[in-house]
Amino acid sequence: EDDVPHVFVVFGASGDLAKKKIYPTLWWLYKDGLLPKQTYFVGYARSDLSVQAVRDKSTQYMKLQDDEKDKFEEFWKYNYYVKGSYTERTDFEHLNQEINTLPKGDLAHRLFYLALPPTVFKDVSSNIRLCCMGHDGLEESTGSGGWSRIIVEKPFGHDSESSDDLSQHLSKLFREDQIYRIDHYLGKEMVQNLMVLRFGNKMFSPLWNRDHVQCVVITFKEPFGTMGRGGYFDESGIIRDVMQNHLMQILSLVAMEKPASTSAEDIRDEKVKVLKCMPPLDLDNVVVGQYTGDPEGQGDAKNGYLDDPTVPKGSVTPTFATAVVFVKTERWDGVPFIMKCGKALNERKAEVRIQFKDVPGDIFGGQCKRNELVIRVQPQEAVYCKMMVKAPGMNINPEESELDLSYGARYKGVKMPDAYERLILDVFCGAQLHFVRSDELREAWRIFTPLLHKLEKEKIKPAPYKYGSRGPQESDDLARRFGFIFSGTYKWTKPQL
Ligand code: BG6
Repeated sequence: EDDVPHVFVVFGASGDLAKKKIYPTLWWLYKDGLLPKQTYFVGYARSDLSVQAVRDKSTQYMKLQDDEKDKFEEFWKYNYYVKGSYTERTDFEHLNQEINTLPKGDLAHRLFYLALPPTVFKDVSSNIRLCCMGHDGLEESTGSGGWSRIIVEKPFGHDSESSDDLSQHLSKLFREDQIYRIDHYLGKEMVQNLMVLRFGNKMFSPLWNRDHVQCVVITFKEPFGTMGRGGYFDESGIIRDVMQNHLMQILSLVAMEKPASTSAEDIRDEKVKVLKCMPPLDLDNVVVGQYTGDPEGQGDAKNGYLDDPTVPKGSVTPTFATAVVFVKTERWDGVPFIMKCGKALNERKAEVRIQFKDVPGDIFGGQCKRNELVIRVQPQEAVYCKMMVKAPGMNINPEESELDLSYGARYKGVKMPDAYERLILDVFCGAQLHFVRSDELREAWRIFTPLLHKLEKEKIKPAPYKYGSRGPQESDDLARRFGFIFSGTYKWTKPQL
């Protein structure tokens, strides 16, 4: 296999995603020597660009070090650029010819990254299938090379119907093992860690159920607004942008039963089972919000969502949402899973918080707070357990403290790869574990579509919240209604290194 080259085609090479994420990621993988030798990169877009132009646009995102200059030049020597439309078959025939003229290009393994707006998904995927497939066509290679894999980014449709339509389209062109649907949260260290934490420790498994867990809170917060992406964002809203995909993926990893093995299919089978046991979201258990400007804030914080000129006037698109869902399995029945996500909030943070039940038969006069196990996805990856200890010193009062595994302290100097680095490398290796299977996607849309349709049809007004706040009060009220206690008496602090 060693001498079979790989060709990585970036469709949408002139776009934002390509310059900010894809090219930098390819460079990092290249410079760390993680890619197969003989990997060629071909950018494709409608604009009249060149490799130099792609390079000029993306370099500022590549965190180039002084001693990497030679390697950097070398990297660009493996780069090519092809201009063409997304609709015309002849342009894809041309792309194919260009690939074939690379050394052993006709035998090469091919990876197609669709960094494209959804409007051209279908055309491009059809044209790839018609004109650009590797030597082995639809048959996965067994040795001599020439497989093809296609990498797609959300949005995978905007509701059940449109998503099914897209899935059907893709499934006519490619086998499931050729399709890599990216949810970049699956590439994050702490999300991948859930498997080991849960199934590699005897300590947690007896507690991981409705007998001990009061509720599970999965949070995503960002301290900035739409940052000029309002036009794109308004089409989706925070529920489609973050909750239906990133938070649901985390939820299924937290809630799933132990898989038969660590193989991609065994794990994804268990994740789908979780989703199948979830009834659709109910508007009564959902709070939506939209940020308003903070007159006292600095810069961007002065602007509300509706002040973004690319956002349609009077839009009711949520920039914040809290939803309570249930997993009707023997393990979880009755335990609220509270998903919360929003833009323009007080901090950047993504975490999973398992809140345990109160200690029965309290002897400390109500001084004990609930235990919490927190998996902090970002920033500052950590796993910590909030627990009661005797306040050190000459007294016997219980006090909140923690068992803290902060990665920055425990794994000093260990390089944490970026989510995209792991995922793109997985595609080279043919590892599908951290990608979304079509049945997972279908189930996730089933859970969200009725709510999304209702919000849109009835133009439900989101609750306003101030830029830089914790979100609307209604969200805290909702969480409280489902038994989550936020005492606010304790805050985890990043350990001093
Ligand atoms: C993307 C969303 O999927 O995830 C963005 O479209 C969001 O709106 C981003 O900002 C967050 O990713 P990360 O890795 O910065 O947490």
